[in-house]
Amino acid sequence: MCGITGYIGYRDAYPIVINGLKRLEYRGYDSAGIMMYDGKEMKLSKTKGKVSDLELIVNNEEKRKVGKIGIGHTRWATHGVPNDTNSHPHFSESGDLVIVHNGIIENYDTLKKELVTRGYTFKSDTDTEVLINLIQEVKKNEDCKLGKAVQLALTSVVGAYAIAVFDKTKPDELVVARLGSPIAIGVGKENNEFFVASDASPFLEYTKNAIYLEDEELAIIKIGKGIKVRKIMDDSLVDATIQKLKMSLEQIEKGGYEHFMLKEIHEQPKAIIDTYRGRMLPDQGIIKMSGVDDNMSKFLNADRIIIIACGTSWHAGLVGEYLFEDMARIPVEVEYASEFRYRNPIITSKDVVIAISQSGETADTLAAIKLAKSKGAFVFGVCNVVGSSIARETDAGAYTHAGPEIGVASTKAFTTQITVLSLIALKLAKEKGTLSTSAFQNYLRTLELIPSQIEQMLKIDDSVKEIAAVYKDATNCLYLGRGFNFPVALEGALKLKEISYIHAEGYPAAEMKHGPIALIDENMPIFVIATNKGHYEKVVSNIQEIKSRSGKIIAIVTEGDTQVKEIADHVIEIPETMEALTPLLTTIPFQLISYHIAVMLNKNVDQPRNLAKSVTVE
Ligand code: F6R
Repeated sequence: MCGITGYIGYRDAYPIVINGLKRLEYRGYDSAGIMMYDGKEMKLSKTKGKVSDLELIVNNEEKRKVGKIGIGHTRWATHGVPNDTNSHPHFSESGDLVIVHNGIIENYDTLKKELVTRGYTFKSDTDTEVLINLIQEVKKNEDCKLGKAVQLALTSVVGAYAIAVFDKTKPDELVVARLGSPIAIGVGKENNEFFVASDASPFLEYTKNAIYLEDEELAIIKIGKGIKVRKIMDDSLVDATIQKLKMSLEQIEKGGYEHFMLKEIHEQPKAIIDTYRGRMLPDQGIIKMSGVDDNMSKFLNADRIIIIACGTSWHAGLVGEYLFEDMARIPVEVEYASEFRYRNPIITSKDVVIAISQSGETADTLAAIKLAKSKGAFVFGVCNVVGSSIARETDAGAYTHAGPEIGVASTKAFTTQITVLSLIALKLAKEKGTLSTSAFQNYLRTLELIPSQIEQMLKIDDSVKEIAAVYKDATNCLYLGRGFNFPVALEGALKLKEISYIHAEGYPAAEMKHGPIALIDENMPIFVIATNKGHYEKVVSNIQEIKSRSGKIIAIVTEGDTQVKEIADHVIEIPETMEALTPLLTTIPFQLISYHIAVMLNKNVDQPRNLAKSVTVE
């Protein structure tokens, strides 16, 4: 939620900060703002709306762009509605200090009341304006420099933050700090320039050297001198390591696609290969995953596996439940992280917890991990973003290696998460002997075919588009699937909801009779997964039931199917594969249908309303 970026150095800061905001817009996009320091004055430009709206304002007045120092913000509102005043950056009352903030100051009300008694007045409804005035107050009372004032102020703060603060009376430095929200610092040659951002994407073309702050760390960045990192609470100096960034510019650009979502759908074959590359070795008949290998006894002795995640990652977790129980015969529970963390769950040291998260920053998942660890469970992470908070907080893990996912609606994250879970389930099954060597080998060979099968499916895009055109004006849709494909039905419905704003529900096909069937009439499109191995005959009966109530049936079937073809209004074929691997294929047409419907309805596919890519607040 919210993206922050900043620059201090010898280049013009404006293009760096504004382009950085565009790259961070996936994090929130209800308002945007920028502060430019021209050597004398701080110029503030901010507005409700997108970064492009901000650009229009700045373009009207060239002097708003001048300066070698700038900080910017793209917002996903928490405290205070999205409007110009609540947009960041925020000045302190004296007008000397300015801040951008990602996160929530939970005790802002108490702090605000205290500041009001000291004579402060506030322009906005935000928690952030409270924080910058608290910093001003501490700076005045302690008569200290900015870094110390920020540090002392943060010791009174409850909540989460990634902040960048600038003081125009000391214009050679920026102070940044983090707790619970990510922040990366790009380091230029010989300390002659520095970049600050919620992730490294805004500065990829300038430097590959980055420092990722840890929780409760504060960095004082001084031009020409370098970076000093301290622990906020005990003031100890931290030896921050500079990491070499592997991400390339190409990966974060649209590469000729109209939207990131479409690009990411098309990237799935490569992403899945990247996920299993070096891990799945069919010729040797093994799967190598160091995070699992090193902790094999924990997995094998586990009473159960608890999978925690949110949203799409939770759906991948549900597929994981089917995989682990079917292949490795280990009992699995799948929990919404947000529920798990607050319901006093029974967890013991004999539990293995698998936390799944694309961003690795989801606040509820992170809190659930901390809870599980505090109760003695071994926690394994499945994350996409390397070095993310969840990746660091877990005891061991496996990255999905999907590459940056920028479209807010998850696509390649989902299929690569399922790929990782399949590899772990297969590995445990082999180790436990719950799968025969030939069955194991068969899975490996079949999984290896999935990327080219997805490639083949992506070619049916035109026929999917025709189906999308027929149903784009629907107001309600049902998605049905059974077994391994029940979670795919949930995911299909979520994809449609989040980018086209059409109401959709996913159900296990057999549950239809217990309620949703009442909704069916000639206006109701029903997407049914009816592949040949997953309880096919039973799903065919469900389709008959829909037909006799005049519902419109769009069925996902296996190549060569004849029975469903006769009944359904539309069929989309997937290539033959093993039942446990079908989710990797059946999800593709659902992604494409949602995408095309959203485009036809003129919706903002990559930045759907009210959503943000990483949910770093509860
Ligand atoms: C849906 C979507 C969200 C995320 C959820 C968890 O398309 O993207 O539902 O899946 O917010 O995010 P991560 O995986 O980053 O923890």
